[in-house]
Parts: sequence; C-alpha cells; structure tokens
Amino acid sequence: MSYFEINGGKKLKGVIEVKGAKNAALKAVAAALLSCEKWTLSNLPQIEDVKRILEMVGDLGVEVKQKEGTKEWTNKVEIQARSIQKTELSKKLAGKLRASIILAGPVLARKGKVSMPYPGGCVIGKRPIDLFLDGFQKMGARVVWKDDYFSLSARKLRGAKIFFPRITVTGTEAMMITAVLAEGETILENAAMEPEIPVLAKFLNQCGAKIQGAGTPTIKIKGVKKIKGGQMKIIPDRIETGTFVILGALCGGRIKIKNCCPDHIRALLENIQKAGVKIKEGKDELVVWGAKKIKPINLTTHEYPGFATDLQPPFTLLMTQAQGITQIHDPIFEGRLLFTDSLNSMGANIVLNDPHRATVYGPTKLRGRKIASPDLRAGITLLLAGLIAEGKTIIENIYQIDRGYERIEERLRKLGADIKRIEK
Ligand code: EPU
Repeated sequence: MSYFEINGGKKLKGVIEVKGAKNAALKAVAAALLSCEKWTLSNLPQIEDVKRILEMVGDLGVEVKQKEGTKEWTNKVEIQARSIQKTELSKKLAGKLRASIILAGPVLARKGKVSMPYPGGCVIGKRPIDLFLDGFQKMGARVVWKDDYFSLSARKLRGAKIFFPRITVTGTEAMMITAVLAEGETILENAAMEPEIPVLAKFLNQCGAKIQGAGTPTIKIKGVKKIKGGQMKIIPDRIETGTFVILGALCGGRIKIKNCCPDHIRALLENIQKAGVKIKEGKDELVVWGAKKIKPINLTTHEYPGFATDLQPPFTLLMTQAQGITQIHDPIFEGRLLFTDSLNSMGANIVLNDPHRATVYGPTKLRGRKIASPDLRAGITLLLAGLIAEGKTIIENIYQIDRGYERIEERLRKLGADIKRIEK
C-alpha cells in the first residue's frame, strides 16, 4: 500500500490552485443521467471518488468519454446517457462512496426501477439513508429490501411535498434531481443550501428543468418531459480552499490560493481572522500569512452558510497551536472527532468529551509519527499535522486522501513541502 512520507517544519510559500469541487462533480455526473443528450463536464477534479462514480455510470451502460477517442482520465468528461442499460448499481463501487446513492434517482426516473446496495464512504458516523427512502416513496416509488439491495420501482414518479426533518445535502440534491422528470410539482422544505445546489439547479434549468428556490430552504421543481444536453464547469472546491487557508496559517510564509470562491468559506474566514490569521481577499483568490500567535476560537459546525463540518478537522488542528483552550462542537456526524486520537499520538492535548464535543488544550508541539488516514477530511488534517510536526511522519491508507485531493503531494511540494508518495 502506498504511503506519504513527510519531513515536517518547512515554511511554505508560493501559489496553489484550487481544483473543481468533489461534491459538485459527483452530483453533476448523476444529473447527466437525466438527459439522453451529451453533457460535457469540465474542471472535474482528478480524484478517486470522481473516478469511482464515472466507473459506476459506465457500468450502467452509459457512454463516458474521458478524452477524445481515448480512455485517458482528464478534467473534462463527456457523458451521454442515450440509454441506461442496467438498473443495478455496482455493489463493489457503491461500497467505496456514499455519493453513489445519488445515481438511484435518475435511473429510477428514466427506467422505472433501480436496485441499490447500501452506500459506503467515509467512516464518520452511522450515515443513514432514511431521508432518501422516504423521499422516493413520497414520489410514488415502492421500496423493497431484498438480498442486500434496496429495490425501488415506480411506473411513474409524481411530484410530492417533502419536508426534511434534518437538513441533508445529498438528500436535497437527490430529490431535486429525481423530481426534474417526475409528473407535477415537488416542493422540498428545510432543504440544504450548500453552494453546489443552486449551481446545479441553474445548469439543469439551462437544460430545460424548472427549478426555483435552490440555495434557499424551499425548492420548487416542476416536472418536465425532457432534459437537453449542455456544458457545465464545476465550481472550485470550497473545502479544498478552506484546507489551504488553514495550511497557510499553519505553515506560511505567504501562500496565495488561486481559483477559489472566498464567499463559499465565509464562516471559516471570519473565525480564522478572529484567531489572528492575516488574510487578503480578492475576487477569486486569497492570500494567507503564517500566524505567529493563534488565539483560541470556540467552534460549532453548522449546515451552510455555517462553518462546514468538513473543515472542522483542520481547524481543530489549528487550535492545537493556539495559546489557550478551545471548545469544538461538531453536531453533524458522530464520528468526525475520532481522528483527535491520532493528533494526540503526535503530541496534541485534545480531550474528547463525547462523540460531538472536544476540548483542545494549546499550544502543543507535534512530533512525527506513523499514522493511518481514517477518512478523507481527517486524512488531510493528519497530513497537515505532519507538515508542522518535528521529524518524519508516515501517513498510510492514503486512498482516503486521494479520494478528495488531486495529487496533493505534488502541489504541496511546489510550495516547498518535503513530502513524497512512496508507491508499494
Ligand atoms: N442524515 C440522516 N438520514 C439521511 C441522510 C442524512 O439522518 O437519510 C443525517 C446524517 O447522518 C447527518 C446529517 O443528516 O447527521 C447530514 O448529512 P448529509 O446528508 O447532509 O450529508 P451527506 O450529504 O451524506 C455531504 C457531503 C459530506 C459533508 C456533508 C455535510 C457529499 C458527497 N458529501 O454528505 O462531505 O460532510 O454533506 O456537509 O456531498 C466529504 O466530502 O468528505 C464529506 C463527507
């Protein structure tokens, strides 16, 4: 198994570009299945999760062209679901990513049935799918659990009123996408407002959908008969942007982050500046200076536009370097603080009060260690920890980092980091 070897303590400086948003790309690939015509997606990040979802779509018999005439992987992909030949989602691939569930709706809408296994993905909590099943049922689908698969069928999907008792990002996107081809009007209430949602709705509307209110808690979708083809550019990844801001605070020098959307990480920018980190903001770029003295800032994560749960792990790492005590509260997933154990093994002093609450006692000196990446966001956090630790850090299970960050070691090396991938 490949691993990263990091020699910590280097000051980083220079320019780093943000790639396309993983969680926007995955949903756009699914939405492409609504149309018989060609969708061209550009600025796709070249990461394992995107590869997996494209493999899943290919496995359904949909045409996926990665580069003119070849199978080579680039950041531009053409998807044409002239027909969908299979209605069973691959169990092996679905086990690798939670977002695989997003494919169920469009297949159900186009074919009248779909079988899907329980989706896998990051080990950050229970991650139930009840809100998806409820939504599909409200739209007229029959759901049966048989032989390790959910079998969903509906001769005709119809519009429905769906209130989400919990705000769910992929659940909102799944119902919005599915409702596009349903008969009549669907109203989603208490919907998620993450920036990826209005961007996808806008593109779907350009292709003939009738979606109103995406980006607010109430989304109305009037069903249409047909979705046309088109070209969609994936927006910059806000989690990668935020991670690089924290990287700059921890290891800069001066780091310029290009091709980003500062408004999408407003909650982080507010908090990190209060912590004493200097940031200069441009229209689509940010400059971050390494912080000499970090103040402790208590944090509670929240759905967008609140502080993203995906940025909690690197922020918690930053707080290990703060002068004092920080309380971290992450109510969204029950496993998102488990990685603090690994930080403690590197010298941090973090007490886990319950699955959702931690107290960070700073500042602490971190020492290099051999650790395994438990999930995507924890993985990148341990990598950042390795960059500020004294001595050598080995990070194993780096598939969990490659799932969401494109060739991260090459990009960090350009900033002066001493990190290499050892292939085994
Ligand atoms: N929930 C339910 N039932 C459901 C669905 C969700 O109870 O049927 C609960 C979850 O257990 C959680 C809460 O609702 O407690 C919110 O989960 P949500 O559905 O919003 O999460 P998600 O859509 O599965 C997406 C991102 C995550 C990100 C969260 C929160 C994708 C593919 N994933 O997950 O990103 O942390 O929203 O913003 O869009 C990542 O990129 O590493 C990642 C995990």
